[in-house]
Amino acid sequence: MSKRIALVTGGTGGIGAAICRQLSDDGYQVIAAYSNEEKAKAWQEAQKADGYEFGISYMNVGDYESCRTAINTIAEVYGPVSVLVNNAGITRDGVMKKMSWEQWHEVLNVNLDSVFNTSKACLDSMLEMQFGRIINISSINGQKGQFGQSNYSAAKAGMHGFTKALAQETARKGITVNTISPGYIATDMIMKIDEPIRNKIMEGIPVGRFGQPEEIARTVSFLAAENNGFITGANIAINGGQHMC
Ligand code: CAA
Repeated sequence: MSKRIALVTGGTGGIGAAICRQLSDDGYQVIAAYSNEEKAKAWQEAQKADGYEFGISYMNVGDYESCRTAINTIAEVYGPVSVLVNNAGITRDGVMKKMSWEQWHEVLNVNLDSVFNTSKACLDSMLEMQFGRIINISSINGQKGQFGQSNYSAAKAGMHGFTKALAQETARKGITVNTISPGYIATDMIMKIDEPIRNKIMEGIPVGRFGQPEEIARTVSFLAAENNGFITGANIAINGGQHMC
């Protein structure tokens, strides 16, 4: 049987790259969707040197036509996407008093519109295959809210609402839809937070450290497995005990 195709948005980033490598280790042909061509090509080469053969595909995740075009091309070149990991995300932090509409809109567009855009573009072929895994990478801050992140918290909470609705629509079609809510993971995104604030956040994590991207990737692998069809509409928290609900 030919390899199943996995598409990871934001695949060249910190958590995304770990997910790509894990899914490749699991036997998928993995395509990383990117927004920055130069970075993506360098990343692809570096991965190749480590023995990983990834496809890369340009996608503006906030734009439906861009997603549809890219996903159709992936289907022609590699085959239909059966595992979709919606991982692309950005932050534009600021207290509400200072937040601009652009900061709000950009985060909602990239973090939430994207989930509609890519899922919609993959859905018909998943329905045809009667198989699919959609895994939405949300955040602890969608669950608990975060000072300075009204935009990000809203988008990330919205992702799980989407998960629960689509999971119901696809439950009888062999397609599962789940959310993973990482806490603070040691990536560039976290390193952008001012050091004193970052240190304070770490103090609030019961396990006493930031998470590792591989710890998220392992759960993606678990949810993507073919024999894991009974978990759907779930939200799996991976946050070192920082938020329990
Ligand atoms: N709760 C309550 N009050 C807080 C607070 C908190 N968590 N953090 C700051 N404040 C208070 C400060 O004490 C300060 O009070 P005073 O004015 O009375 O002195 C006031 O709020 C302003 O705080 P700042 O000086 O921090 O304000 P700022 O405008 O310079 O910065 C900010 C605001 C950019 C949002 C900054 O607070 C910040 O970076 N916060 C961290 C946000 C965060 O956690 N982002 C996560 C990014 S990573 C990610 O999102 C990945 C993921 O999924 C987990």
